[in-house]
Amino acid sequence: MVQPTKLSSLIFPSILFLSLLFLFLSSTSPPLYTTKKLLPLPSSTCNFSNGNWVLDPTKPDPFYNETCPFHRNAWNCLKNKRGNMGFINSWKWVPRDCELERIDPWRFLGLMRNKNVGFVGDSLNENFLVSFLCVLRVADHGAEKWKKKGAWRGAYFPMFNVTVAYHRAVLLAKYKWIPTQSTDSNQEGVKGIYRVDVDIPADEWTGIADFYDVLVFNTGHWWGYDKFPKVTPLVFYGHGEPISHPLGLLDGYRVVLENMVHYIQKEVPKNTLKFWRLQSPRHFYGGEWNQNGSCLFDRPLEENQLDLWFDPSNNGVNKEARRLNNLIKEALRGTDIRLLDLTHLSEFRADAHPAIWLGKKDAVSIWGQDCMHWCLPGVPDTWVDILVQLIRNSLE
Ligand SMILES: *[C@@H]1O[C@H](CO)[C@@H](O)[C@H](O)[C@H]1NC(C)=O
Ligand SMILES: *[C@@H]1O[C@H](CO)[C@@H](O)[C@H](O)[C@H]1NC(C)=O
Ligand SMILES: *[C@@H]1O[C@H](CO)[C@@H](O)[C@H](O)[C@H]1NC(C)=O
Ligand SMILES: *[C@@H]1O[C@H](CO)[C@@H](O)[C@H](O)[C@H]1NC(C)=O
Repeated sequence: MVQPTKLSSLIFPSILFLSLLFLFLSSTSPPLYTTKKLLPLPSSTCNFSNGNWVLDPTKPDPFYNETCPFHRNAWNCLKNKRGNMGFINSWKWVPRDCELERIDPWRFLGLMRNKNVGFVGDSLNENFLVSFLCVLRVADHGAEKWKKKGAWRGAYFPMFNVTVAYHRAVLLAKYKWIPTQSTDSNQEGVKGIYRVDVDIPADEWTGIADFYDVLVFNTGHWWGYDKFPKVTPLVFYGHGEPISHPLGLLDGYRVVLENMVHYIQKEVPKNTLKFWRLQSPRHFYGGEWNQNGSCLFDRPLEENQLDLWFDPSNNGVNKEARRLNNLIKEALRGTDIRLLDLTHLSEFRADAHPAIWLGKKDAVSIWGQDCMHWCLPGVPDTWVDILVQLIRNSLE
């Protein structure tokens, strides 16, 4: 048996030697093996869209609940007694190569002091706005409802002199209803048309460019034959005249995107931060919204299910998000409008729509389930975290 003193006299020099050797090696060459995750990439180069939802019971509670005064009733799933809201909000979006911090509402409003954030587009941007307002309100309980300059809804945060608002312009371009005159030769029961002026932005957001320091655009969900069927179609006009080769919906969408992007590039000041939010995916399962399509899921989809649901080549019910995204990406190429790509992360969340918890007795039998908008608190809170991170990267 070696005596303890002898043992330590042998071990200590060797530990010392090994430590020095380790220090030397680790300072000159990359570690061969590490149990820790690699250091995250700086968030300015990170692709926040690329990642996974991880069940995280330690995730802090959402910043708000059903009492937030900015809620829209149909998205207030807590008030409408959806049962598993705690579980829905225990999933955390974890980007692969970097960390996504939760918004710090005090710090963000401080950064935005005397500045304004605007959303322009359809109800999916309104869904985004409501989440944003409810989160920001925790830093300023004096937040007031705001309605001016044609804004549909918004809030003013008096402690910071910040306004965050939404302008409803579902097609972005100007459009109006023109009923068929009784004297017209009425072919195929057409009741009238919606005239879309592809080169004129809707009144709701003209003249607002100077007011905002950050703008977030979107349009997409209205571009379908369910909103504009053959008897009340969209008809596209350019320079005030009907476009001579009548455009189908997708071509009309492409031309409107090109024109609105051109308008934004020309009219919105250069130092305004501009984002274009890519499509929010729908999750109708088993049929369209008016064919008993349903989203009574209690867990997110798996990554290997996404293509089956969303790849246009599979011709599923929810294929349009990716299809429209391709047109948006093309229209934005070479501009200073940044992509806000929230599609992929949202594709997983078949479990997080209001579904049948709509707060009105007959809503489901009349409108079907809502597998398009999102429960709040919910997925749009993660959209807020990503938008805020991108704004901070640009302004700080
Ligand atoms: C970011 O990741 C998403 C999801 O994996 C992917 O669709 C997208 O193309 C990526 N964007 C860039 C700019 O690499
Ligand atoms: C909702 O949040 C408010 C604070 O914003 C809090 O005072 C209230 O107790 C919460 N209500 C419920 C039912 O958790
Ligand atoms: C509030 O912000 C606006 C810009 O949005 C600015 O013009 C105005 O002077 C600010 N008011 C105060 C009291 O700082
Ligand atoms: C939807 O469900 C109702 C009730 O189960 C049924 O009567 C109706 O035919 C269904 N509609 C479609 C389009 O499947």
